[in-house]
Amino acid sequence: ETRSDGPNCPGSLIVVSNRQPYRHEYERDGDGGDDGDDESDRSVTVDEPAGGLTAGLDPVVREVDGTWIAWGDGDADFDVADEDHCVEVPPGEEAYTLRRIDLSEEAVESYYYGFSNRVLWPLCHGFGDLVEHRSNDFDWYRTVNERFADAVVEHAAEDSVVWLQDYHFALAPRLIREGVPASTTVAQFWHIPWPAPETFQQCPAAGHVLEGLLGNDLLGFHVDWYANTFLDCVEQYFPSATVDRRERTVRYDGHTTRVVATPMGVDADRYDRDARSVGRAQLAEIREAFGIPDDTVLGLGVDRLDYAKGIPERFAALERFFERNPDWRGEFTFVQKSTPSRTDIPTYQQYGDHVRSEAERINRRFGTDDWQPIVYTEDYVEHEALCALYRYADVMVVSSLADGMNLVAQEYVAANVDGDGTLLLSDRAGAHERLGTHALTIDPTDADGTAAQLERALSMPTHERRQRMQTLRTRVFDHDLEGWMDAQFDWIRRVHGEKSTATDS
Ligand code: F6P
Repeated sequence: ETRSDGPNCPGSLIVVSNRQPYRHEYERDGDGGDDGDDESDRSVTVDEPAGGLTAGLDPVVREVDGTWIAWGDGDADFDVADEDHCVEVPPGEEAYTLRRIDLSEEAVESYYYGFSNRVLWPLCHGFGDLVEHRSNDFDWYRTVNERFADAVVEHAAEDSVVWLQDYHFALAPRLIREGVPASTTVAQFWHIPWPAPETFQQCPAAGHVLEGLLGNDLLGFHVDWYANTFLDCVEQYFPSATVDRRERTVRYDGHTTRVVATPMGVDADRYDRDARSVGRAQLAEIREAFGIPDDTVLGLGVDRLDYAKGIPERFAALERFFERNPDWRGEFTFVQKSTPSRTDIPTYQQYGDHVRSEAERINRRFGTDDWQPIVYTEDYVEHEALCALYRYADVMVVSSLADGMNLVAQEYVAANVDGDGTLLLSDRAGAHERLGTHALTIDPTDADGTAAQLERALSMPTHERRQRMQTLRTRVFDHDLEGWMDAQFDWIRRVHGEKSTATDS
């Protein structure tokens, strides 16, 4: 769906993200001796954005006829060589250009599976001990950032607004700035936490990372805490920089970067609408498919299989809960839906093994012939089924050890249309700033405390439960994805305006 009154972008928009908004799958039609170049020899299937950021940004880029530059991840194109390729999207509408950067396996191994996800990800989430120092990773990260920056420079015009997404592109802003007209605005949103200086100093090439980011005119984080720790790091690494804490600006090397905190939301209307269209029949199907007895109370966890999400900690709390509350055995079932992620990295494989074995162990300990305390699945769950789970789960547990924002907590609230679910929310997720007062707060490392909050959720008087969920829903609807996008563009317009005034004078 295209929004009718998109955010007002002050110039031509160039979005840069690691993941692409559309993925094309090319298949040969028959095997009749072609050279692979003829469009008529192949059929194309296109996956549309499934959700989250790419789905939210797509209508914006459509509306302004922009350009989107992304890694051409997994495009099963049989004749694409090692070069970028452009395609007009969405299929049939051709509203904007998607430029794919085709990366070699070696580049992906070092840029994506290396510096991005073996260094920046663990570091920004406070897992300094998981940081891996491999010799080529930073060089490849720089090379890939250069390739993206070159692509941006090719597309950029005087009035362009470049909007980079996330931690895959820490070096690109400065490189872009060096190649575009002074009036071009460069902005970035950092979707993950920013760590304290004590942690950040373990970052190889820390100074380069900060210097790269200070090439932005605008740098967004989810919450104040991350914006402030970023400024702390800048002060520590660049004593010559002028940091204005009140305005949240940094003047460094002749350039000013404004740092803002704009917490992200979800497409609340979509989750609300889709949850209303599912009924108890869908829930019954899910119960049947997973062998969940009809009358058990439902708990739910939905996460990427990532060590930052605190899944074993959640299971430890469930174990404590069943130890302390034998009456709930056979009466409460916890559904954990995990999506395997970054599985080329051994830490993620080991984490997955640990999570699965903990679920099995707890199930062996408490399970009976007709009931398992934890129903664990890594299978793909259709959006409709997910909405049914969100709608009917009595308790949702988000126990992240660190989390930029956490959109799942907000999706649950938006889809909990009957208003009688309860959210247990880690105080370490960015979403806690928005939802912490009416969710039940947990410290994910405190199994006893989390078990106690679960007991509280399950025995909470109906009026209190409803009142809490009502407030959570108001917050999630008042600060949805569209609102976040508008906030971004309000800042972009402001910064863009300040720059053109400065360039004119
Ligand atoms: O949380 C940051 C983020 O980039 C999200 O936008 C996204 O859900 C997740 O990480 C994706 O991870 P990956 O692209 O590595 O699968």
